[in-house]
Amino acid sequence: MPYQVTPAEAIEGEIQPPSDKSISHRAVILGSLAHGVTTVTNFLHGADTAASISCVRALGIDIRVEEPSPDSRGLNVTVQGHGHEGFREPEQVLDVRNSGTTIRILSGLLASLPFTSVVTGDHSILQRPMDRIIEPLRLMGADIRGRDGDRYAPLTIRGAALRGVDYAMPVASAQVKSCILLAGLGAQGPTLVREPAPSRDSAERMLRAMGARVSVNGNNVAVEPGPLHAAHFRVPGDASSAAPWMVLAATHPSARLHIRGVGINPRRIGIVGVLRSMGAKITIQERAAGGPMPVADISVETARLTAVSIHGDIIPNVIDEIPILALAATQADGETIIRDAAELRVKESDRIKTTVAELRKLGADIEELPDGMIIRGPTKLKGAPCCSHGDHRIAMTLGIAGLLAQGETLIHDPECVDVSYPGFWEDLESLRAG
Ligand code: S3P
Repeated sequence: MPYQVTPAEAIEGEIQPPSDKSISHRAVILGSLAHGVTTVTNFLHGADTAASISCVRALGIDIRVEEPSPDSRGLNVTVQGHGHEGFREPEQVLDVRNSGTTIRILSGLLASLPFTSVVTGDHSILQRPMDRIIEPLRLMGADIRGRDGDRYAPLTIRGAALRGVDYAMPVASAQVKSCILLAGLGAQGPTLVREPAPSRDSAERMLRAMGARVSVNGNNVAVEPGPLHAAHFRVPGDASSAAPWMVLAATHPSARLHIRGVGINPRRIGIVGVLRSMGAKITIQERAAGGPMPVADISVETARLTAVSIHGDIIPNVIDEIPILALAATQADGETIIRDAAELRVKESDRIKTTVAELRKLGADIEELPDGMIIRGPTKLKGAPCCSHGDHRIAMTLGIAGLLAQGETLIHDPECVDVSYPGFWEDLESLRAG
């Protein structure tokens, strides 16, 4: 059923966004390799992270999941790991569904386990590049094959004795970096990953908390092989799930929002800097200073925005926020240019194409570039039928656009938000005021 959004006269309230997806995936996958019981609180209750749990369970790992307590959106999860020896050959094909993080990180682990696994996913996963993990894993000695010239899933991975590698990644990708680091834990000799620009560092932080010898030098990360010990993780709110609300409050003519419990890892919260440089009024109140997973409450209110240029090393930091930033740019004065973001073409959808096509249906003045887009604003958006293309970030962007637009916006395929944000549509309706 399509979802219909009507304009909001005013926006007010509090939101607790769901838990960080990246950290939740890593907590179960790293926990499965650790020795002992890893406990995770506020684990993301979403379809993507459920796929990580079911794949790890199919490898013989005992994972318990408890429903959330009333004051928490997330799940309590315990993972009983026994090191590399704790896994068994899966009887079935491992199905990651829509989750690129699961297939890429899990493959790094499977490459070092002494059996054969086949990994696949949904229609979108089958279009996404897997050569970016196949190449470095092969350099480490892995026996891994993919479809269509070893470029796409399904992947067949026959575990092997790996050796450490010194690998320069052609694109900045936290998924690929995490995959290689995980393989490196079970390899002979050290592994060094060089990134062209800094991507999110959740894996490095979590590996350290589990006793791994990880060292970071600029954009280079090294890991020594060795065991992990179990740990406790409390997952913060996802900055990418907070992003739609930040943009809503910054762009709506009468808005004030309080977003609680957001992870503010500097490599995840680039959107705050971008919005502030556009003139947004954002206040950040850190809950407990520092720590491996810093958390804050974020308040945002109506402001007059001006166009900005988004390019270069900031791109990996805001990679999942570009569709919603493009919406912000439609409400900003002047010409916003987004470049160096060709990676958007290989996300859950081709997000350059889908963002441009769908915002244009709502009246935006937006133009496609090979590696980004140009948006001229401000535009008064007009509601229209539009489509998520099965991509959660596009669905949420269109939902926010519908609150800003005149008339009705009808969003086809709205359920895809469930991969990262079940309850998104209920939260959206809860913020209407006036
Ligand atoms: C993720 C990293 C990003 C991001 C994705 C989740 C992760 O992908 O787009 O939604 O959890 O590592 P890349 O780092 O591969 O660009």
